[in-house]
Amino acid sequence: MKYQKPQLTYDELAAALMKTNAELKEMEQSRSEFYANISHDLRSPLAALKSSVEYLQSLEHVSDGELAGTLSIMQGRIKVMETMVNDMFLLTTLENTDIPFHTEKVMMGPFLEEFFFEREMEQRYSKRKLILTVPFDLKACAMIDADKFMRLLDNLFTNALKYSKDGDEIELGAGMQEHELAIWVRDSGIGIPADKVKRVFDRTFTVSKARTPDLEKSGCGLGLSIAKTIAERMGGRIECESKEGEGSVFTIFLPVI
Ligand SMILES: Nc1ncnc2c1ncn2[C@@H]1O[C@H](COP(=O)(O)OP(=O)(O)OP(=O)(O)O)[C@@H](O)[C@H]1O
Ligand SMILES: [Mg+2]
Repeated sequence: MKYQKPQLTYDELAAALMKTNAELKEMEQSRSEFYANISHDLRSPLAALKSSVEYLQSLEHVSDGELAGTLSIMQGRIKVMETMVNDMFLLTTLENTDIPFHTEKVMMGPFLEEFFFEREMEQRYSKRKLILTVPFDLKACAMIDADKFMRLLDNLFTNALKYSKDGDEIELGAGMQEHELAIWVRDSGIGIPADKVKRVFDRTFTVSKARTPDLEKSGCGLGLSIAKTIAERMGGRIECESKEGEGSVFTIFLPVI
């Protein structure tokens, strides 16, 4: 093969190397942050489980009621840990591009309607105003893995529920924007501070720094990273717009076929 003079100048090459180096450093830092946060989040329910076991062991006699109560608390903590481990496993699998997605051509209008009507039947959404803004004549088809896409939408809906209060709105909308299909989940909940919006898709990022083991609200900040990875693996992307105190919109852009 004939020698070809590099097209880059030394200065450009040096700048490119410095940029790559900075990116590698950032990746390394985000990886260690990820492990630190995950270990911290797993440690809280684990410590609670340990003290429940020690408490039961310390009793000479346990009444049926007390045993049932403690076991039910322990079950709650186990569920939290189970969700975290499952989410971590899912994220790792999704990020591994060697594992294929089972994509198929799906009519997105009926698909979104079905997702919406299923949410409407769920008791946990009964105190929110659910709104569907998918045009009935939306003809868009996309290549998606239906199960994974449901998971993406579910993560957005669960957040909309978790970060809003009784009476707030949660809207599922869709429409063509130029050549892409835009699908949005909007809520009129607590919103996200402007300086935090950019980071919400980072692994283990949560707005509240207090990583408290509040069982109802607890989350380890993996939901949106999972959502982003799913959207990107289907050739799409996801964006967030939010205003603190007013609400948030998460929009998925998908190529149509
Ligand atoms: N709809 C929303 N309204 C307000 N804040 C949100 C919304 N969605 C996400 N956030 C903020 O972004 C953070 C990251 O969201 P993400 O779904 O990744 O994690 P999580 O909900 O804390 O935990 P997980 O989803 O893993 O259970 C949340 O902790 C929350 O602070
Ligand atoms: Mg979440």
